[in-house]
Amino acid sequence: MDLKIAVLAGDGIGPEIMEQGVAVTKAIARKFNHNITFKEALCGAHAIDEVGDPFPEDTFQTCMEADAVLFASVGDPKFDNDPTAKVRPEQGLLAMRKKLGLFANIRPVETFDCLIHKSPLKDELVRGADFICIRELTGGMYFGQKQEGTDEAFDTNFYSRPEVERILRVAYQYARQRRKHLTVVDKANVLASSRLWRHVAQEMMGEYPDVTTDFMYVDNAAMRMIQDPRFFDVMVTENTFGDILTDEGSCITGSMGLLPSASTGEHTPVFEPIHGSWPQGKGLNIANPLAQILSVAMLFEYFDLKEEGKLIRRAVNASLDANVRTPEIQVEGAPKYGTREVGQWIVDYIDKA
Ligand code: IPM
Ligand code: MN
Repeated sequence: MDLKIAVLAGDGIGPEIMEQGVAVTKAIARKFNHNITFKEALCGAHAIDEVGDPFPEDTFQTCMEADAVLFASVGDPKFDNDPTAKVRPEQGLLAMRKKLGLFANIRPVETFDCLIHKSPLKDELVRGADFICIRELTGGMYFGQKQEGTDEAFDTNFYSRPEVERILRVAYQYARQRRKHLTVVDKANVLASSRLWRHVAQEMMGEYPDVTTDFMYVDNAAMRMIQDPRFFDVMVTENTFGDILTDEGSCITGSMGLLPSASTGEHTPVFEPIHGSWPQGKGLNIANPLAQILSVAMLFEYFDLKEEGKLIRRAVNASLDANVRTPEIQVEGAPKYGTREVGQWIVDYIDKA
């Protein structure tokens, strides 16, 4: 297959984990005879410094011309600590999501048996937990009308029926391919926008009689996720709730450095780790590249290249089993591997497979 990939490495640990993501993509291309070309583009703090815009027009064009975007992370403390900053790196990410129409963010929460002990939750609760959070990504408070004053400020949690309907359809499709259980997470006891979600979902559920639909308030869902994560199969929720719940979800796994995601919608799909730019880890060769590498697996799977995705997942599992792990998940006494060494081990595994 011919594939054009736009590479947006961004800030912090982004370039380091991206290097490994690209190396793995190339290894897969060699193995399966795909013709993959890469084009790098600026985004985030990096882009603000160079051209004054966190998602420059050139980058947008590169994304539009590509078949897929591989994205790492954006963010820089120099902006976090300055509430008066007019442009922020995160705006680049939001602009990308909006301009590419990426309304569906797919965030799988899977556990790795050999890392169960790293989870802050009890083994018997976590073992076998496997669900997907489908987060609406281009609506809600992130993009609703807002006003920012020094004494008053507000954000609007706006949703329209078509926006709710299209994300619910995506969620139902996923549920159909899995254990056929969809949980719609909202705050319908308080929020008007949530009542719209619930209303639309109740109208649609009849079209998917093979899927069990249930409804859960977000506060309850946050509790249930750590009390009984195996309850969930597919959950679908609005932008802000999804942002919060997926950070919580990553904890179940034991490290944020393990969770990939895919964002799909109207234009080029984007594949990215759910973790941030971790500026403290920058340049130290200690960041876990696995979330980025698993995002590459999701990229191949999106194009129905299942064997490619499978081989990457097998290589990742093998690296964990062989204790080739970055420091945050390494077992005591075992040698510590860096970002590059973990990436190289996985590339070698794929080459030899
Ligand atoms: C995420 C991130 C972003 C979000 C930030 C960096 C704007 O936390 O992808 O979850 O809030 O969506
Ligand atoms: Mn987040």
